[in-house]
Amino acid sequence: MLNNSKLNRRSFLRYGAMAAGAMALAACPAPGAPGAAPAAGGQAAAGAGNAAAGGAGQLEIFSWWTAGGEVEALNAMYEIFKKKYPGVEIQNAALAGGAGQGGNMKALLETRMQGGQPPDSFQVHLGHELIDSHVKAGRMEDLETFYKDEGLTDVFPKDLVDIASMDGKPWSVPVNIHRSNVLWYRTDKLEAAGIKEAPKTWDDLFAAAETLKAKNIPALAIAENEPGFCGHEFENVLVATLGPDDYRALFTGKLKWDDAKVTKCLETLNKALDYANSDYLSTSWGDITDRFMADTAPAMMIMGDWTHGVLKSKSFKNYKWAPAPGTEGIFIVLSDSFGLPKNAPHRENALNFLRICGSKDGQDAFNPIKGSIAARTDADKSKYDEYQLSAMEDFKKNTLVPSIQHGAAAKQSFVLDYDLAINILATKRDVKAAQAKLVQAATDAGFGEA
Ligand code: GAL
Repeated sequence: MLNNSKLNRRSFLRYGAMAAGAMALAACPAPGAPGAAPAAGGQAAAGAGNAAAGGAGQLEIFSWWTAGGEVEALNAMYEIFKKKYPGVEIQNAALAGGAGQGGNMKALLETRMQGGQPPDSFQVHLGHELIDSHVKAGRMEDLETFYKDEGLTDVFPKDLVDIASMDGKPWSVPVNIHRSNVLWYRTDKLEAAGIKEAPKTWDDLFAAAETLKAKNIPALAIAENEPGFCGHEFENVLVATLGPDDYRALFTGKLKWDDAKVTKCLETLNKALDYANSDYLSTSWGDITDRFMADTAPAMMIMGDWTHGVLKSKSFKNYKWAPAPGTEGIFIVLSDSFGLPKNAPHRENALNFLRICGSKDGQDAFNPIKGSIAARTDADKSKYDEYQLSAMEDFKKNTLVPSIQHGAAAKQSFVLDYDLAINILATKRDVKAAQAKLVQAATDAGFGEA
């Protein structure tokens, strides 16, 4: 199994390394342009430097963690920071809406970064989301020395470091590993319809959905009041239907987005929408977990394991989990990370925060609450619950593929177009129009070029 897992990780790595390969095309802004790197003599690569410094001033951290579980998890890292650096005032600039269409947080971050007024650090998905934007534009400090000084290269899986890297240097510190492809289900709802186990395939799911319908129970919880949620569902359908190799081929140009296999995936999602809560177009991502906990809840929800964090924060226990239909043995992976913008106003404080993000204490305080698992391989397992221990095992053994919706597979501009395409399906139920938009999005993203 070990060898297998290494192979799996390697193929994931091959994929992630595309970010690095694309570096040759990196466009740096002209010197003096907003967001340009400081001229010669500017900041050197970030290193451990004076770890004890940074005991005063402020620390402004951007994130989109405003939901239950997310807030408490981030606070757990802040608490560690406050104990070490009591003289520093933390400004928690958390703003909802980073996971979907770009959201408020990402929009504000973009304005600040382009205007040369970065926060001290910010949440960003590991991989293309950061590399293809602020790294290529020359707005970040590399963390090569920092990784070495903090011993991070030894404690993160090599594949993860490679995904964080461009030009052989890492650019952010992963705090976690989240899994996208989880089916959360209400045991009482399935039991009420006489369904004995969670559906393993989409055919199983549709059969279960019919049975549930007869009991007036929607099968799937969906929240598409704005583009995003269905983009998450669709990546799960793509992986289940195409398998890991064809799924990866979508981003290398080897499998085209106009392929009949993609049409089939859109048809599957279109059919799934027939079994969603009927008000899915007016239900928000923020509300869906409450809906899932309600007496009138849909029976199942396909969503990442931050859902586990939210449900735990509300002390809700009436649910179980399984791999999303058709994805057993596959782990759709994403990782939240923090980086160091050039000209961070409180650079030493930012570095000290990154130290906590990468540390065992920091990760073991954050992840048990967040629903994710540690990015470090030396996590203290006694701190994690049953779901998380199973995710740790799966992460080691499964085939890893990158999440589209959460920034690992492709750059942010593609994610925005992809979400709009899938939203066309959700609102107009038009497979052809949605696929045409996906094809355009892939062309604009230049998959397979260079
Ligand atoms: C993801 C993010 C997770 C979680 C989720 C919902 O994109 O990686 O950490 O917060 O959004 O907000």
